[in-house]
Amino acid sequence: MVPAELAAWMQDRQVRIEAVLEGLLPSPSVEPCRLHEAMRYAVLGGGKRMRPLLAYAAGEAASAPRALVDASAAAVELIHAYSLVHDDLPCMDDDTLRRGKPTVHVQYDEPTALLVGDALQSLAFQVLAQSSAEAGVRADLVGRLATAAGSRGMAGGQAVDLAAQGRTLELAELEFMHAHKTGALIRAAVLMGARCGEPLAPDALRGLARFAGFAGLAFQVVDDVLDATASTATLGKTAGKDASDGKPTYVSVLGVEGARRFAAGMLADALDGLGPLGEAGGRLAALGRYIVNREF
Ligand code: IPE
Ligand code: IPE
Ligand code: MG
Ligand code: MG
Ligand code: MG
Repeated sequence: MVPAELAAWMQDRQVRIEAVLEGLLPSPSVEPCRLHEAMRYAVLGGGKRMRPLLAYAAGEAASAPRALVDASAAAVELIHAYSLVHDDLPCMDDDTLRRGKPTVHVQYDEPTALLVGDALQSLAFQVLAQSSAEAGVRADLVGRLATAAGSRGMAGGQAVDLAAQGRTLELAELEFMHAHKTGALIRAAVLMGARCGEPLAPDALRGLARFAGFAGLAFQVVDDVLDATASTATLGKTAGKDASDGKPTYVSVLGVEGARRFAAGMLADALDGLGPLGEAGGRLAALGRYIVNREF
């Protein structure tokens, strides 16, 4: 059960980011209409919006004006949505269901799915470049997101994931893969949200980075657990896919209970990291608990 106060806050920010994304995505009546329609199909009306929520919560912890965090929250979600479209392609995980709907290459076609990903990635950086943050902050945000999305971040982690299919991995290799393919963007969401606010004291910033790293890794560990334990209807994506594809995961290495314990241990470390933020870190702590205890 999500605590009522957190659920209300999450819903408020989910509605907010939906409106922000809606306003940023090109209209389907603008040429090329089909590409724009497919971009909107990939982004709007689904997903937990975990990365925007983390950006808003980190922004709050650093007293950032909410309107300033919108661009970071949207940019990270656009990169995430692009990563899902490509992750689902037949040449990658070959999935047909995402967020309860047919995947983009099924609903449209493969070349369109490829271009949707390309265009969403470009839009993410356009949004940051045109945001109202002060120039130095803007440059930091662009740099941080670029690093998190690229070969030293998400794309790199995806490369490791593809190369690992059908193999067994050591725990350290698994951690590298997860921290990159999923952890990097989540970490960026937290740090970008905070960068929109007042400078944090060095110990608070270090603690925040620690929280962000653990939360990002734990998020993918729980994704592995849910793939093995939840239903397709609950997940809105095909359950049991990791095992049938021969993917090494925290579940294949540690078992379901072992993976759950591992995620719980990471939550404890993540919450420790928030110590120096005091009360300002309360919302992030609640989201950390949500990440580990979520059911989809
Ligand atoms: C799924 O991410 C893919 C991973 C990186 C683990 P989410 O679980 O955040 O997917 P949505 O955005 O809620 O659909
Ligand atoms: C997702 O990992 C990583 C990225 C999309 C970058 P998964 O392949 O486990 O994500 P799902 O389970 O398809 O959402
Ligand atoms: Mg994948
Ligand atoms: Mg996948
Ligand atoms: Mg998965």
